[in-house]
Amino acid sequence: MDAIKHYLQFKDFTREEYAYLFERARWIKEKFKRYEPYHPLFDRTLVMIFEKASTRTRLSFEAGMHQLGGSAIYLNTRDSQLGRGEPVEDAAQVISRMSDAVMIRTFEQTVIERFAENSRVPVINGLTNEYHPCQILADIFTFIEHRGDIRGKTVAWIGDSNNMCNTWLQAAELLDFNVHVSTPPGYEVEAERAGLYGTNHFEQFDDPMVACQGADLVTTDVWTSMGFEAENEERKAAFADWCVDADMMAVAAPDAVFMHCLPAHRGEEVTADVIDGAHSVVWEEAENRLHVQKALLEYLVVGRIES
Ligand code: CP
Ligand code: NVA
Repeated sequence: MDAIKHYLQFKDFTREEYAYLFERARWIKEKFKRYEPYHPLFDRTLVMIFEKASTRTRLSFEAGMHQLGGSAIYLNTRDSQLGRGEPVEDAAQVISRMSDAVMIRTFEQTVIERFAENSRVPVINGLTNEYHPCQILADIFTFIEHRGDIRGKTVAWIGDSNNMCNTWLQAAELLDFNVHVSTPPGYEVEAERAGLYGTNHFEQFDDPMVACQGADLVTTDVWTSMGFEAENEERKAAFADWCVDADMMAVAAPDAVFMHCLPAHRGEEVTADVIDGAHSVVWEEAENRLHVQKALLEYLVVGRIES
């Protein structure tokens, strides 16, 4: 029997698999826009486990499963035995006997890895402290839609070296583009935690303005990620100069796009004129979670389908 394929971090797939998924997402999106029903996951069930809050991730997976002909069940730690100390290995055994795929949003990456080791069905990372691969899948798909191939391009990451940043860095190594990272002192990238091979696809900059110079894509995220709320005040002070503003966008490439995974805090990590301005593609980016995850679910549950 073939090993079960999981999607726990960006580097779990090859460059060739990403080419397939981006093409498949384009096909699925077009069909959806033409109101043509497409039900490859008829009668299939996705279980979604949330240990942190969510709007987009829950909505896109739940709507996506419905649109593919299946259904989705939402579990959270508050209302299930997961929050009362049931071992993650036991939960994986039980949940994966009643479903066709499991999506998990949790804290440590090790939790999702332990779940996957004990699961009979594919497990998808819906965000951990370390990674957010479904979001970067949507972001790169969005970039391709607006600007074509991302290979050789430059992404400027301004702010915290968090789960989003780590995933951008993994994607850069795999898909051969560059990331300019600018973080405040003390918040730099930890290459090992990011899971990098050290292929020189990223460069650190002290000055966010320098990091943005010539960038094809400028992106940022909240200063305080979920699970780090106790550091909020300290972070607000440390990150004050890492707000993406019109001056930063002015030194990027003239056709640079701005992305943010959302939710955003206008006036903190980005100014309102940037996120609501001409370079911003944040709404398409959010919508594309739906389309890329439908391609991902189809691939993991029923395998490759040539369009
Ligand atoms: N971008 C993202 O994952 O959003 P949610 O936290 O709303 O799911
Ligand atoms: N870095 C953020 C992303 C939210 C979608 C967090 O982990 O809270």
